[in-house]
Amino acid sequence: MTRVFSGIQPTGDLHIGNHLGAIRNWVRMQHETDAIFCVVDLHSITIPQDPGSVGAASLRLSQMLMAAGLDPQVCTLFVQSHVREHAECAWLMECTVSFGELSRMTQFKEKADRQQFISAGLFTYPALQAADILLYDTDEVPVGADQRQHVEITRDIAERFNSRHGETFVVPAAVIPAAGARVMDLQRPTDKMSKSLDSPKGTVGLLDEPKQIAKKIKSAVTDNDNEVRFDVEAKPGVSNLLSILGAATDRDPESLAADYTQYGPLKVDTAEAVIELLRPLQARFAELEADPAETMRLLRLGADKARQTASVTLARAKTNIGLLEG
Ligand code: TRP
Repeated sequence: MTRVFSGIQPTGDLHIGNHLGAIRNWVRMQHETDAIFCVVDLHSITIPQDPGSVGAASLRLSQMLMAAGLDPQVCTLFVQSHVREHAECAWLMECTVSFGELSRMTQFKEKADRQQFISAGLFTYPALQAADILLYDTDEVPVGADQRQHVEITRDIAERFNSRHGETFVVPAAVIPAAGARVMDLQRPTDKMSKSLDSPKGTVGLLDEPKQIAKKIKSAVTDNDNEVRFDVEAKPGVSNLLSILGAATDRDPESLAADYTQYGPLKVDTAEAVIELLRPLQARFAELEADPAETMRLLRLGADKARQTASVTLARAKTNIGLLEG
């Protein structure tokens, strides 16, 4: 079976852009592949976080992922720092990737521009990501287009390691969902909906209350020509509403446009569809939130399962490098 691995940072709550663009796809994949999903807390600390907040954020994100449909009985779901092989393997990756290669990472440059304190970990971030992926003999990495470069460097690292030390790692491929809903910010519909945009009115959180959802969608930016048409370039706001409504109701946004002549009803229906989409998920989240010990039990089981594979791969890598066996 195809081995799939992906990771998500515990920074901020999930929103409908994460859900419709990525997580829903993960939920589908867990039934079709051997899927491993990781809450990458060690990646999140490449940028300074409030002391004491990281653990709570990891627990909460894990609960949101489970509420969204990741089933720890079906896939493997775990927290990165619970499997120490990740940090150890990252060192081997750091010694396999070059300073020049890391210097060319566009995400490092963007993030570094926004920090006063640029940690060494922010620079070597792709080596840790390569460790995440390679420890599990991963075939496919489902990620957004912004992560393509990180999967490419992972492939380069795997190939270099294999040619230096003999066949050790599976060389993975990035799978970037072709159509997957690209949800834009409701207030700035030319920017992707994003945790880092800091646009609370433009972002619908997975746990937003129905009233808040209706209000945000009602105040979504559209345009003045009052024509409902799917045209991302000319009509980004209206097209975004059609995309969201389409993704939430499994319909094609272009054909949906024909059902509407005015923005008002389009907004009402989009809000309704999002509220209904999130209702069961919010109910599951409330149950999980009420019983953190149960979530912790599931995460420990996930980490045990992950460690079984990771430890074998790491041991193989250390042996192939020729480190003295302890
Ligand atoms: N860098 C990814 C992001 O910011 C998160 C990530 C870490 C990841 N390790 C991974 C994604 C391994 C896929 C596979 O979105």
